[in-house]
Amino acid sequence: MKKTLDEHAARFDEVAAEYDDEMSPEYNECVALVLERADVSSEDTVLDLGCGTGAIALGLADDAGRVVGRDISEGMLEEARRKADDRGLENAEFGEGRFRDPNYDGEVDLVTSNFAMHHLSDDEKRDAIAVIAALEPARIVLGDVMFFGEPTPDEPFYSPEVDDPATVGVLADAFTDEGYALTDVEMVHEQVGVLVADRQ
Ligand SMILES: C[S@@+](CC[C@H](N)C(=O)[O-])C[C@H]1O[C@@H](n2cnc3c(N)ncnc32)[C@H](O)[C@@H]1O
Repeated sequence: MKKTLDEHAARFDEVAAEYDDEMSPEYNECVALVLERADVSSEDTVLDLGCGTGAIALGLADDAGRVVGRDISEGMLEEARRKADDRGLENAEFGEGRFRDPNYDGEVDLVTSNFAMHHLSDDEKRDAIAVIAALEPARIVLGDVMFFGEPTPDEPFYSPEVDDPATVGVLADAFTDEGYALTDVEMVHEQVGVLVADRQ
């Protein structure tokens, strides 16, 4: 990790109120793909890690039984809670939790994460995927900054000083090592994609 958890949290606390204002087309496409590939039903409990202001968790709440969002930034969590209240959602819950310590030990059918895991180093991503797999969701849907080709910092999708995206190969190996098969790989941009991993 290039910044500490507290530094990442403070960085997102600062921008939380404006976070939703301007999103790239690639981010929006990624959100849409994660929501679609999540394929939730009213019986499902969803855990969304690095939930931010709730793009994925709130997007799934109407169709899921329960959504649980976890993040390290209280500012982002407050925005997510406010949006859930505004929409009158009673099945959405947001609280502190980290990729490698999600602060959740209930049943979970689906784990999602969008545009957040790239803040972790590759070793930390492997640890996070092991922690997620131990919760035994049937499916994990990961949308994120990831390299389909050669890593190049000459693109707008990440900041080399704070972010550490993985190659698709590293992520694929991490999922398969934990007993998940990659059943879908969607390239949104050569540095942005969505992976679907199903439990074997
Ligand atoms: C770019 S935002 C994405 C938020 C949301 N998933 C979305 O799609 O809009 C990244 C989020 O990851 C959170 N984050 C960073 N490192 C984290 C960690 N180790 N555990 C949990 N959340 C983390 C940040 O606080 C921030 O809210």
